[in-house]
Amino acid sequence: MNGIGFIGVGKVGTAFGVHLAEKGFPVAGAMDILPQESARFAEMVTGCNIYDTAQALADQMDFVFITTPDDVIGDVAANVTWKPGQTVVHCSGANSTAVLTPARDSGCHVGCIHPCNSFASVQQSLENLPGSTFTLEASEPVLRELKTIVEALNGKWMKLREQDKALYHAAVCIACNYFYTLVFHATDLWKHFDISQSDAVEACMPILKGTLNNIEHVGFPDCLTGPIARGDVSTIRKHIAALKEKEPRLVPLYKALGLETLPIGLAKGTLSEQKATELRALLSD
Ligand SMILES: NC(=O)c1ccc[n+]([C@@H]2O[C@H](COP(=O)([O-])OP(=O)(O)OC[C@H]3O[C@@H](n4cnc5c(N)ncnc54)[C@H](OP(=O)(O)O)[C@@H]3O)[C@@H](O)[C@H]2O)c1
Repeated sequence: MNGIGFIGVGKVGTAFGVHLAEKGFPVAGAMDILPQESARFAEMVTGCNIYDTAQALADQMDFVFITTPDDVIGDVAANVTWKPGQTVVHCSGANSTAVLTPARDSGCHVGCIHPCNSFASVQQSLENLPGSTFTLEASEPVLRELKTIVEALNGKWMKLREQDKALYHAAVCIACNYFYTLVFHATDLWKHFDISQSDAVEACMPILKGTLNNIEHVGFPDCLTGPIARGDVSTIRKHIAALKEKEPRLVPLYKALGLETLPIGLAKGTLSEQKATELRALLSD
């Protein structure tokens, strides 16, 4: 790689650019429709030039990251005149290399490198990127280059097929985005006993971290704790009654998740078939 450039230098572009430059990769160009973003990137990466257009950057770089929002990747790929032999990659989890078809048709090598992680701000992305798992959709020679990048970031890589990307990204969305949603609703409920959501979040941090710790170190299904794992029907009945009274719109979500928890309890072996049948009736009601 002689010159690596980034089109779109928000959270993910900045994290890749800064860490790769620190590891000695030739990060040499940045372009963003927000000039202040390009300027910030260039301040963080010594020797990096700012380009006003994607075309100007692509004319100078032999390895281009398109790290714009997902919806824009295809437009950028279609509107640049690429040079044969260039490498063009994006970091989207939901899109495959199909979105880079215009670059591929121009003789470029294309690939996807998706950091399986969550980046809520530039600072958080700088902290979270190293050590991530990266899913790669590419063939040689790009695959080899992407593996080198992952190694430099102390990450792990997994290879994905183009046709699996949508389901893969749905899985990541459930694990990450909808986890936020669950914690949001769980901590919002505390307002009914006069505890603010921020205090509830603070109070829940040990149980949230303990839960992740159990998933990592105990694993499924044995990590499951709580009333469903114990077959505690009366507790679940009390939960449903309380939710019906205070936050009825959460009852369908509570019941749906409860039903999906039954197989984990059964697999763990602490939930009996008889209790599971009682719970299934209660949660299906
Ligand atoms: N954030 C995450 O947690 C995460 C995790 C894994 C993968 N990814 C992937 O990483 C990629 C980048 O996401 P991100 O979170 O870094 O997004 P981001 O923080 O919004 O950064 C994207 C940057 O690209 C700019 N941009 C928009 N259109 C452009 C164009 N035509 N030319 C040049 N720059 C343009 C945006 O400006 P505006 O703000 O004005 O649009 C923004 O500054 C996406 O493919 C995303 O799916 C994100």
